[in-house]
Amino acid sequence: MSRAAIAVLAGDGTGPEVTAQAVEVLQRVGELFHHTFTFQHCLVGLAAVKADGEAISVDTLGACARSDAILFGAVGGTLHEGAGPRPELALSRLRTTFDLYANIRPIKPFEALDLASPLRSEYLKGTDMVFVRELSAGLYYGHLETVAGKPSEIRRRGAQLEAIDTLTYTESEIERVVRTAFEIAGRRGRRLTSVDKANVLSSSVLWRRVVDRVARDHPAVTYEHMLVDTCAMRLIRSPADFDVLVTENLFGDILTDAASMLTGSIGMLPSASLGARRTEHGLFGLYEPVHGSAPDIAGLNLANPIGTILSAALLLRYSLGLHREAAAVETAVEEVVQAGYRTADIHYCDQSESTVVGTRELGRQIRDRLRP
Ligand code: NAI
Ligand code: MG
Repeated sequence: MSRAAIAVLAGDGTGPEVTAQAVEVLQRVGELFHHTFTFQHCLVGLAAVKADGEAISVDTLGACARSDAILFGAVGGTLHEGAGPRPELALSRLRTTFDLYANIRPIKPFEALDLASPLRSEYLKGTDMVFVRELSAGLYYGHLETVAGKPSEIRRRGAQLEAIDTLTYTESEIERVVRTAFEIAGRRGRRLTSVDKANVLSSSVLWRRVVDRVARDHPAVTYEHMLVDTCAMRLIRSPADFDVLVTENLFGDILTDAASMLTGSIGMLPSASLGARRTEHGLFGLYEPVHGSAPDIAGLNLANPIGTILSAALLLRYSLGLHREAAAVETAVEEVVQAGYRTADIHYCDQSESTVVGTRELGRQIRDRLRP
């Protein structure tokens, strides 16, 4: 029996629809496994801009700080007309406030949906990997502004313009995300691939050194270094070879998007952003589907809630240490997909045998299949 406080930031567009399904799944998990989960709903994104004049208020950040985890839908949308702060700022505020430096993306194609993948099913068989992408440093930081020793600008150089971005990593920035990755690998298949470009980049040379050092604390995990170009090739040629991968910000951004397409639909994919802050049984984190607010289908009961429901499973695993409960949610999702229930985004791949349902009905099917 455990207790947990969860901040729910549903956000804009389809965010509230998919988040509602994930909350109901968590409530059902609470009933079945005898846990007490409390949910605090807060405004974020466009709604917060309207109400408070900012994408996320200090009060909401405070509510998040008093929680064990944040369940996040999506922010942004067509309604934003350039007046007021951009709703997307909410995410960067949350990331910096809680120093969420490790972005976790599991990638596991569903066998029943193998037609949705651009790869032939024999290449996909057994694919089940987790990406750990460094999220706080590297090239992406400061968005076209020079911050403390990291120029990022377009400037004049003689007769022409030149542009500069700076890729820096400190040892501690590398070490903390690499430690997260080794810990995750230790609880999974015990294999870790660290991805870099050490034949060209100094930051990658340091990255390798730190990985080798942290590895000594994790003798049960087998690890390898892989160049990012080789990794890109192998992700497509033999995705089942990977277990956990860890890499820096830019490489992670590109590789995770490429790998996510192995599963066929963006609506299916969960993510977690973790930092060093601890909860009673795990790490504080922000959990959200990989997709955005999908304003084109908002309010129509069409959105696929699976990415958000699987994010709730990650919340149970990483922030609450409830591994059995997380697995129960993942199993229920697999069963529903196996049984042929599909939202429209994944229906096209096998029209003959499946039943098209809406967001709410798919959520209900998943809840009904949860077993302690
Ligand atoms: P998007 O992911 O919202 O939508 C891309 C396409 O995928 C659309 O056709 C949409 O209908 C479809 N789609 C997305 N999620 C789906 C789901 N659960 N079920 C079925 N179909 C789904 O990306 P887009 O259109 O580029 O961005 C829309 C807004 O979302 C923008 O304001 C963007 O800034 C914001 N955004 C927010 C993110 C976040 O909150 N983390 C991440 C990405 C985008
Ligand atoms: Mg991306």
